[in-house]
Amino acid sequence: MNVICSMVVTPNGYIARLDGREDYASHEGWLEYLETAKQYNNFVIGRKTLDIVDEQYDGFGFEDVKCDYKVVVSRHAQANLDPIYTPAASPQDVLDQLEGKVDTVLLVGGGEINSAFAKQQLIDEVILTVESHIIGQGINLFAPADFDLKLTFKSVEELSGGRVKLHYLVDKAKI
Ligand SMILES: NC(=O)c1ccc[n+]([C@@H]2O[C@H](COP(=O)([O-])OP(=O)(O)OC[C@H]3O[C@@H](n4cnc5c(N)ncnc54)[C@H](OP(=O)(O)O)[C@@H]3O)[C@@H](O)[C@H]2O)c1
Repeated sequence: MNVICSMVVTPNGYIARLDGREDYASHEGWLEYLETAKQYNNFVIGRKTLDIVDEQYDGFGFEDVKCDYKVVVSRHAQANLDPIYTPAASPQDVLDQLEGKVDTVLLVGGGEINSAFAKQQLIDEVILTVESHIIGQGINLFAPADFDLKLTFKSVEELSGGRVKLHYLVDKAKI
């Protein structure tokens, strides 16, 4: 199964402000994300991302995404998780649960869960939509952890609003 890590980042590698806000990011990025999740029929997020989006965004959220598998990863029992979400206990548990159901797993952050997948060398592709906006401090695309991902550049695309989409393949053979 192919795992794509697809994220919106600032040019200096942040995915949100320290308090979790992404007020600088364009609305088009959200619309593109909705389409991608629909295309792959799934998305995978860390538990903190679900909490922050629920708290901070009125009127739109993950419940609006049109796909069958909305996976939330947490180390803790998720008895109170809304039944629209599929709980998973680890990156490997995500893959085990989605095996045979989807061809591609769409990992969409945040930084901690990205690193958890990266540490286990489970990411096959990285797609970064780079906003034309720098913030001085924030949450990292990958939370600090001991891993390398060797990348092969695949493509670049200019998007609306001065945004740029970078597509890389992870070259597992080089690690
Ligand atoms: N710009 C973008 O494209 C984008 C995309 C997504 C999110 N974000 C932003 O990212 C921020 C949140 O990122 P974050 O790094 O703070 O948190 P996160 O990665 O969303 O969630 C972290 C949580 O995931 C669970 N987790 C992490 N590693 C795990 C493992 N190995 N096994 C099981 N569960 C694991 C843990 O949940 P438990 O504590 O419950 O165990 C952990 O607290 C938010 O502000 C959100 O808006 C931005």
